[in-house]
Amino acid sequence: MSFFHGKRILLGVSGGIAAYKTPELVRAFIKQGAEVRVIMTPSSKDFVTPLSLATVSNNPVYSSFIAVDQDNPLWNNHVEMALWADFMLIAPATSNTISSMVHARCTNLLLAAYLSSQCKVFVAPAMDLDMYSHPGNQKNLDTLVEYGVEVLPTGEGFLASGLQGKGRMLEPLEIVSLIEKSISKNLPLSLKKVVITAGPTHEAIDPVRFIGNSSSGKMGFELAKRAANLGAEVVLISGPTSQKVEHHNIQIEHVVSADQMFELSKSHFPSASIFIASAAVADFKPDHSATQKIKKGENFNKINLVPTPDILAHLGSIKENQFLVGFALETENEIDNAKKKLKHKNLNAIVLNSLNDPNAGFGGDQNKITYIQPNTAPISFELKSKQAVAVDIFDQIIVSYEKSS
Ligand code: CTP
Repeated sequence: MSFFHGKRILLGVSGGIAAYKTPELVRAFIKQGAEVRVIMTPSSKDFVTPLSLATVSNNPVYSSFIAVDQDNPLWNNHVEMALWADFMLIAPATSNTISSMVHARCTNLLLAAYLSSQCKVFVAPAMDLDMYSHPGNQKNLDTLVEYGVEVLPTGEGFLASGLQGKGRMLEPLEIVSLIEKSISKNLPLSLKKVVITAGPTHEAIDPVRFIGNSSSGKMGFELAKRAANLGAEVVLISGPTSQKVEHHNIQIEHVVSADQMFELSKSHFPSASIFIASAAVADFKPDHSATQKIKKGENFNKINLVPTPDILAHLGSIKENQFLVGFALETENEIDNAKKKLKHKNLNAIVLNSLNDPNAGFGGDQNKITYIQPNTAPISFELKSKQAVAVDIFDQIIVSYEKSS
C-alpha cells in the first residue's frame, strides 16, 4: 500500500506561474491512492484551468464562496472542506497568499479554508528571486512556521522572470516526498523497527506431507499493516499462508519451518524496537524428513517427534531494550496460563486469544483478546475484526513502550 493511500488532501492553488505544475502534483497523490480536492484563488485560473484540475482530481474544483447554479446559488462550505482534509497543501503559495495567511485576511475561498483548518498545513512558496528574499516575505514565512504551518523550501534555478536563483516552487515529486517524510516523522512508531512473526509453520514429514496447524496468519498481517501505518519499518516473518500485503513500509520474509522462522527472528531481533510473536509455531517436528515421498507399501506407522526451538522464549532470554510481545492460545485457566507464559518467556506483554468464543480465533476474521502485562490488571476487549484488534494491541503497546523507553 502506498503512503498516501486513503489520505484526504485539500490542495490550495494560488496565482503564480508554478500553478501550471499542479495537475502533475494532483496526479502524483492520486496515483498513490489519495483523494484530492482543489480550491483555486481567482487569479490562479490565469495559469491553470479549473477543468484540468477537476479532471485529474476527479472532483469539482472550487474557487468562490458561491457556486453558480442559475436559480439556486450554492454555498461552498469552506469549513466543511477544511475539516474533511487529513492535510492541506498550498502550492504554489504566492507572496500575496502567504501575507494574507499571516494576517488572517479572508478574501477568498482558499484563505477561508486555511483559516478554518484544524489539520496540518504545508505551503510550497513560489516567488521571484528578490521577492522571495524580501524581509517582509521571509518574516511572513517565519510567522507561518510559528503558527505551526510547515513551510517547504523553494528550489533554485531558472525563474519565470529570467533571473536565476532561489524562489521557484519545488517540483511536484519533491513536494510529495517531503510531505511523506514530514508526516512519517511525526507518527508514533516512526524510525522504529517492528518485527512480527505470523501464520503457521510446516514441519516436513516428507516432500509432500507436514505437521502444521490451521492458523491463517490474518492477525499477524493486520498487526504488520497497523505498525506500518503508525510509521514503523516492519519486518513480517510469515509461515505458509494465503495472506498478502503490499505496503512500502513492510518487508515480508517467507519461511516454512520453525527452524527457518527461528533463524530469521534471531537475525532481526537485535535491531528491533518491538517484536511481536503472533505465529502459531508447531511445537514438534519429525526427527528427520524423508527425502522421497513415503509410499503406502513401506509399512510406515510411526513418526518420531522432537521439539522445535521456542523462538519467543529464546528472544526473552537474550532481550535487551526490545519490547517483546507474545500471544497465548489457551483452552483452560486462560489468564493464569497466559501469565505463566508472560513470566516464563520474559515478555513485556502477552495477548491472550480466547478460543471460548466460536467467532474468534484461528481461521476467522474476528478475534477476542485480553492484553496482559506484568503487575497490571488484564484488559479484556470485545469480539471485533482482526483489523480493529490490531489497533487495540498497538494502542496498548505504544503507551507502555513510551513509558519503558
Ligand atoms: N512460540 C514460539 N516458538 C514456539 C512456540 C511458541 O515463538 N516454538 C510463541 C508463539 O508465537 C506465541 C507464544 O510463543 O507468541 C505462545 O505460544 P503458545 O502456542 O500459546 O504456547 P507454547 O509456548 O507453545 O506452549 P503450549 O503449547 O504448551 O501452551
